[in-house]
Amino acid sequence: MNYRHGFHAGNFADVLKHLALCELLRLLTAKDKKLFVLDTHAGAGGYDLAGGQAARTREAEAGIVRLLAAPRVGMPDAVLRYLAAVSAYDRKFGPAGGPLRRYPGSPRLVRAGLRPGDRFIACELHPQEALALKREFAGDRAIEVRQGDGYHALKSLLPPPERRGLVLIDPPFEATDEFERLLRGVQHALRRFATGCYAIWYPIKDEAPASFIAALGGVKLVRLELDLGSSVAEGKLAACGLAVINPPWKFEEAMREALPWIAAQLGPDVRASLHASAATSTVPAPGA
Ligand SMILES: C[S@@+](CC[C@H](N)C(=O)[O-])C[C@H]1O[C@@H](n2cnc3c(N)ncnc32)[C@H](O)[C@@H]1O
Repeated sequence: MNYRHGFHAGNFADVLKHLALCELLRLLTAKDKKLFVLDTHAGAGGYDLAGGQAARTREAEAGIVRLLAAPRVGMPDAVLRYLAAVSAYDRKFGPAGGPLRRYPGSPRLVRAGLRPGDRFIACELHPQEALALKREFAGDRAIEVRQGDGYHALKSLLPPPERRGLVLIDPPFEATDEFERLLRGVQHALRRFATGCYAIWYPIKDEAPASFIAALGGVKLVRLELDLGSSVAEGKLAACGLAVINPPWKFEEAMREALPWIAAQLGPDVRASLHASAATSTVPAPGA
């Protein structure tokens, strides 16, 4: 386990995933019913952009930093809300106005979107990252941080008693069999909790994501993808996606507005795409 999200915090992949996450939370908390959120691969919770790992790669400069510098006029509402959440987190660490000091990880963005009475469990396997996550939320009883395997959590925590849930699955894709593990995990989760909303991040390097999506079968799906094009340095991630199973009403509409705008801000070669498909079956067959 060498992956540290700090090296990538606030990059284009985080922008895609966190923009969608903020919108999912907003839409899912609009209903007056309790929500359960599970973040299976939670990371450290918040990342120092001024020093440490992020300063070594400076990936945020081609991601969140570029968006924050964009004019607000004409900015889609979903992007405005995402940037407001990022800035609100950063303001805890000093006055507004200067360069971004700290970037919120998924647990911070989830936490900011929760209402009293909602329930949130964040899992992180790496001991140091889990410790950082526990420190990030020390004394906050609205989140339960567990050091452990997020795939096991999918089995043990679903279905939630609330019967309404958002599950973020954001693995590091270090292991060569991560897509297989992911597919087994999601299929198992869907059998236990078919109506849950699942947001699954994936890198695009070859045909593996397409096979993964195809193997998900007839679920209701919105798939968002960002491709940075040919300007990306050799060996760096150039494209990624987020598959959202059972998206809430209006999510697709918000993303259709936000994604082209984001792509235009991130660079002239950047392409965004959105694919939506309706459900053709409710529960995947065992081993499907
Ligand atoms: C891409 S990062 C997560 C970033 C975070 N979701 C965010 O958006 O801010 C993936 C994280 O998963 C952790 N991890 C790796 N394997 C895991 C597993 N089986 N269960 C839980 N966490 C795992 C890694 O240590 C890493 O911190």
